[in-house]
Amino acid sequence: MIVLGLKCYSHDTGAAIISDESGELRTHAISEARLNRRKHSFTYPLMAIDYCLKAMNLRSLDDIDLICFDRHMESWPEPGSQFGYSNALRRHHPRYDDNHRWNYLVEQSLKLDKAKVRWINHIDAHAASAYYVSPFDDAAILIAEGGTGIYHGTGTDLNIVDRIGYLSDTYRDGEKLPKRRDHFVNSSFFYDKVSENLGYDIFGAGQTMALAGYGHLFEAENSFSVDPDRFDDFIINHDKTIHGMTNAPVYDGDDSEKLVGNPWVSLARQAQDTLEEDVLYLAWLAKKKTHAKKICLAGGAALNCIINRKIIESGPFLDVYIQPAASDEGIPLGCALSGYYTGGGELRREMNDAYLGRPNDPGNLKDVAGKWQLSAKPASPKEVAEMLAAGKIIGRVAGGSEYGPRALGNRSILADPRPQEMKNKLNTQIKHREGFRPFAPSCLEDRPPPFFNSPRRSPFMVIAGSAHQSDREKVPAVTHADGTCRIQTVSRDQNADYYELIEAFGDLTDCYVLVNTSFNDREEPIVETYDDAASCFLRTGLDALYMDGVLMEKTNETPVLTPTDNNATTAARVEQVYSDLIEHYCDVDVYVNLATRLNEEESHSG
Ligand SMILES: [Fe+2]
Repeated sequence: MIVLGLKCYSHDTGAAIISDESGELRTHAISEARLNRRKHSFTYPLMAIDYCLKAMNLRSLDDIDLICFDRHMESWPEPGSQFGYSNALRRHHPRYDDNHRWNYLVEQSLKLDKAKVRWINHIDAHAASAYYVSPFDDAAILIAEGGTGIYHGTGTDLNIVDRIGYLSDTYRDGEKLPKRRDHFVNSSFFYDKVSENLGYDIFGAGQTMALAGYGHLFEAENSFSVDPDRFDDFIINHDKTIHGMTNAPVYDGDDSEKLVGNPWVSLARQAQDTLEEDVLYLAWLAKKKTHAKKICLAGGAALNCIINRKIIESGPFLDVYIQPAASDEGIPLGCALSGYYTGGGELRREMNDAYLGRPNDPGNLKDVAGKWQLSAKPASPKEVAEMLAAGKIIGRVAGGSEYGPRALGNRSILADPRPQEMKNKLNTQIKHREGFRPFAPSCLEDRPPPFFNSPRRSPFMVIAGSAHQSDREKVPAVTHADGTCRIQTVSRDQNADYYELIEAFGDLTDCYVLVNTSFNDREEPIVETYDDAASCFLRTGLDALYMDGVLMEKTNETPVLTPTDNNATTAARVEQVYSDLIEHYCDVDVYVNLATRLNEEESHSG
């Protein structure tokens, strides 16, 4: 059976494909943003669909047995459409992202057999994304984000215990309630509201968590009180908290460095403390309701590494599995898995690593070096480790890309964690982002460095550890203000090449740790292709590229690439790709007729 999972609506669209045709489960998945180069893209995931089909050597949606779509709400604007004709008429932006008209046209003209379509509830998809790829046969599943869900998984069955959110049916203790509960501010929305006060959008939770890490340096200044009566079984209602926040300060400055101080740090700390209390309560409730000994986590709050550590340490569960694509990037995989098992699939396979992307073709390396006038030569891990130990900052591209927001070595910028100035250099010259944000360390699973107190296994960089007080100055680039660090452990079976590089660096320096940050510039998704990586190399202060064993460096002939030029070239390329994909995957007559009708109606209405 071959199943395609899709998220086509709202942010972080994407596709995932699973197949058991070879006798084992094979999986590929990618977010549209990685391909169209628009962060958190809202675009119908035509590029991701094509990418996933090609990963399985397929050409058409006819080759798929089940196509499972994320359903964000149970009542669409019109039957069978996530976008709706009237929205398409109104919302016509001159760009693809959040362009309802373009998305609607693709949706309505996509060539697929409707009998193969399944709709998967959004929160159920998150639950499937965590449980089915965990090593567990009996586990509680907790989803904490804009919606909330508690599930119990046994074998290939995944049952709802409690669920609420996104205009979908509400469940309590396994029963669907006659009336759904909507319109209240839950824990994640409350956290987003604080992020908004700090000047960030709905994707700013990571920055809020980072700021909360400075809480011990400033005296607490609470500008609002958190409603102590917000708990009603699995429903946590922050409406009163939010109403009491009218006088909470709002940051409207341009310089986000100024957020490291009060009242901003206190705001972030209050949000973090509250979210911790709420999610730990939900984990306790999941234990009480399922009696399971293990738990799987997904949903945006499962990217909060401090909370994950506390769930592990608080002890109700013997083991915890966290889906690395815990936010909505993981929804396509959840849809595919849900469709596979409810469609009778029986094979299970643990997601032991996050490398679900399709490897680049090394045959293209020469072309990329030629296009950008870069020097290129094969290099061993030892040679690259020597450069890192000499202070060079290197972008690494290897194998399949990581699914989810964390780069785990295959699309990573790597550096030496020991120099005092490295964190600042990375933030200002390479990533062009706020100086208060921390970097994470990659370590060897079987040779843990003595600096950290951390979980033995943490392959997805979603669990906080801490650096021992006496060792913090030894690896300052990967230790946050409060001493925490978001460790990635690497084993040979997960990523042999990356393991060898860390090992070679450790053999040289006696420090078996590398700084690992995602390979992208500010406002840019993580790079996917060699060409994406080379263009990022030209726009940042990176010293070299290391791509599938080939070291590339700038030469006197290497051109200057400005972000403006890069954006224009990328936009033109992507426009052409979408045009080609519409020809391939859509009924062009349906697309053109519907587009004409919408355009005419728009011009008549004025
Ligand atoms: Fe979600």
